[in-house]
Amino acid sequence: MLQIEQLKKSFEGYQAIANANLSVPQGEVVAVIGPNGAGKSTLFNLITGHLTADSGSIRFQETDITQFTPHQICHHGIGRSFQLINIFSSLTVFENIQTAVLAKHRLDRKLFKPAKKLLKEETLEVLNSFGLVRYKDHLCSSLSYGDQKVLEIAIALGSKPKLLLLDEPTAGMSPDETNRIVQLIKRLSKDEGLTILLTEHDTDLVFDVAQKIMVLHQGETIAQGLPEDIRSDKSVQKAYLGEAEVC
Ligand SMILES: Nc1ncnc2c1ncn2[C@@H]1O[C@H](COP(=O)(O)OP(=O)(O)O)[C@@H](O)[C@H]1O
Ligand SMILES: [Mg+2]
Repeated sequence: MLQIEQLKKSFEGYQAIANANLSVPQGEVVAVIGPNGAGKSTLFNLITGHLTADSGSIRFQETDITQFTPHQICHHGIGRSFQLINIFSSLTVFENIQTAVLAKHRLDRKLFKPAKKLLKEETLEVLNSFGLVRYKDHLCSSLSYGDQKVLEIAIALGSKPKLLLLDEPTAGMSPDETNRIVQLIKRLSKDEGLTILLTEHDTDLVFDVAQKIMVLHQGETIAQGLPEDIRSDKSVQKAYLGEAEVC
């Protein structure tokens, strides 16, 4: 579904992405792992068009999207949630989801009555499926961190992406909140067949949810493959996982 080849990106001479390669098969959960500063968020920004690559290529469903704008990429079916909470905190939960549903249908707020009814129904349906309906009239700023993150994923899914990017979806979460996100990722993958690409610092979580792993080290892809192959890969052990963790 997504094919990245020999991608490079420098910031004022500093090569944050030195040679990234990645292939994401349709319907799988794929994780990009690597220590802080490895270039994971930069890679995601390149995929979503928030940054432009210096060289190399990104193909999504046979279309070369390397030079596309974020808007074009979103319309092609790549959705994302950001590492930092990125929702309109002064709107209610309902209004936030409604905005995403409106954007999906490319409509503005001046709707005829029947369309308004459908919009309300669809918004409630989304809230229901994410367990957020009881908070529909709450301001987003009043939600717990875990609920805000779930809302953020629900908003990202509002545009009905084919590929969802999650940058450290459990950063700063309690074990309970983390477990909720893990269950959500598994449900979206298994029940809805969504393809998911995520970065995550928690390696236990990665080995639990991912069908494929890519290891980024100093901006370079040093391995990609099945979790068990990554676990036993000598260069990965040396660069990142550490002997103790992979025993
Ligand atoms: N906009 C930017 N300008 C300059 N340097 C950046 C920028 N974005 C990221 N970097 C640098 O690129 C490297 C990779 O960062 P990042 O992609 O955030 O890593 P990760 O997400 O793996 O922790 C870091 O050294 C970071 O300081
Ligand atoms: Mg990051």
